[in-house]
Amino acid sequence: MILDANKQVIKTAVCSLMRGDVVVFPTETVYGLGGDATNDLAVAKIYQIKNRPTFNPLIAHFFCIEQAQEYVEIPLAAYRLAQTFWPGPMTMILRRKEGCSISLLASAGLEYIGVRIPNHPVALALLKTFGRPIVAPSANMSTKISPTSAKDAMSALNNQNLLIIDGGKCKVGIESTIIDLSYGKATILRPGAITREDISKFMKISDEASTETKSPGQMKRHYSPNSSMRLNVTHLRPEEVLLGFGNAKDVWPSSGEHICLNLSESGDLGEAAANLFSMLRELDQLNPSAIAVMPIPNEGIGVAINDRLTRAASQK
Ligand code: TXA
Ligand code: MG
Repeated sequence: MILDANKQVIKTAVCSLMRGDVVVFPTETVYGLGGDATNDLAVAKIYQIKNRPTFNPLIAHFFCIEQAQEYVEIPLAAYRLAQTFWPGPMTMILRRKEGCSISLLASAGLEYIGVRIPNHPVALALLKTFGRPIVAPSANMSTKISPTSAKDAMSALNNQNLLIIDGGKCKVGIESTIIDLSYGKATILRPGAITREDISKFMKISDEASTETKSPGQMKRHYSPNSSMRLNVTHLRPEEVLLGFGNAKDVWPSSGEHICLNLSESGDLGEAAANLFSMLRELDQLNPSAIAVMPIPNEGIGVAINDRLTRAASQK
């Protein structure tokens, strides 16, 4: 059931969370499937609904830094990042405090938890009214495309009977940047709207850790449509649909009817990120022989777009 966000709906959602139920809510990145982080049964429900392997930990969401500090250690360097980028599309992997009541299932038994303060009024109102952290993966079946609208969340979870709070289209459109601070060196486990350059102003970023092993969710095949995909396409083949970026005319064959959605005609990478998942989903529903994607500049948030496209295109 999709309900427009308002005070009453937030109260209803909080009652559901108190009971150990899950709710879908908007954030600035993607819609999340949220549950009480301190309730093992609620956390188990999230894994079950998404059909997600339980070795893949969840991100805990908070409404302010002080609240997060009740549960995790925030070292000085991380605190500076937190002050600059929270609320916002950044997740830091931080150490649990002794006696931390967040379910161990949520962090897949790890000493370290993904922590984020989302920059969306509905998410913040929900977190504040609930008063406890909410664990929330993206509101889609495991390995599939993340939803960036309430309607997409409904179909991404196979129309299961869940409360979905509609807070409009997600402005960022790509999941948060994940920074691992769990072993002395800072590494980026998942690129996002907060770029390596942004973070490098505050701390040195190491390239050492293998993203495959450190972030269990960073599996190669992820964000996947059902159709096959062809990346960096400069000439469209028959029967393909096009996901364009910038001027798509040159890629267009002179004859035949083709379908094209353009991530950003003006070549704006932020706009492209915000449109990426919804357009991929729309093209996928046409069952094309392949979704052909034009080259995306690998700079700024373009790094995150290319990361998602490469995973979406991976056959493994
Ligand atoms: O933007 C976002 O981060 C969205 C919204 C809803 O906040 N959430 C999201 O969650 O993308 P999810 O579960 O789809 O992706 C979380 C990623 C996974 O790749 C997971 O492996 C990694 O974060 N992760 C979570 N906790 C971790 C931990 N303790 N150590 C290493 N990686 C972790
Ligand atoms: Mg996800």
